[in-house]
Amino acid sequence: MLRTKDILDEKDKRLRQISEEVTFPLTKEDKAQMKRMVAYLRDSQIEEKAEKYDLRPGMGMAAIQLGIPKRYITIVNEIDFDEETGKHTFETYIVMNPKIISHSEEMIYVELGEGCLSVNREVEGIVPRYARCTVEGYDMDGHKIRIRAREELSIAFQHEIDHLNGILFIDRIDQKNPFKNQEKYRAI
Ligand code: NI
Repeated sequence: MLRTKDILDEKDKRLRQISEEVTFPLTKEDKAQMKRMVAYLRDSQIEEKAEKYDLRPGMGMAAIQLGIPKRYITIVNEIDFDEETGKHTFETYIVMNPKIISHSEEMIYVELGEGCLSVNREVEGIVPRYARCTVEGYDMDGHKIRIRAREELSIAFQHEIDHLNGILFIDRIDQKNPFKNQEKYRAI
């Protein structure tokens, strides 16, 4: 299983490279890696597991964060939590060669600050993101898929696709004025 120490830190130059397109069929190793990524993200969002295995919580991961320069991403989005039973419900996305094909004019940002499994510190500032976007890519079998994402999920896709292009969220924060143009964007 993946552990937090397997994830590259922001100082690692490999995070700055442009990842290469995935070709099909996928290798067994790639498929196994994707499943490990999803398992990590899911477990990291379940408190007992995160504590037990010392996992930093995250909702998305790009292959390059494990040092694999291939264009695929995984996102695990919690859509429901039942307090009575303690049951989490997640939706999972594993997307090869993802591309944003359209997006809203409206832009949003995470009020508490965006986070990244490769950035192990609090970073203040606004990361402007499209409030809604449509992502096209391929599933693990090579079938074309299209996802309409909004709000937090939309941010997650933009964040992970940035990783494939060597971009970290901290790059998108204005260095001189981290809260520049705040009034132009909606906080979520
Ligand atoms: Ni990240």
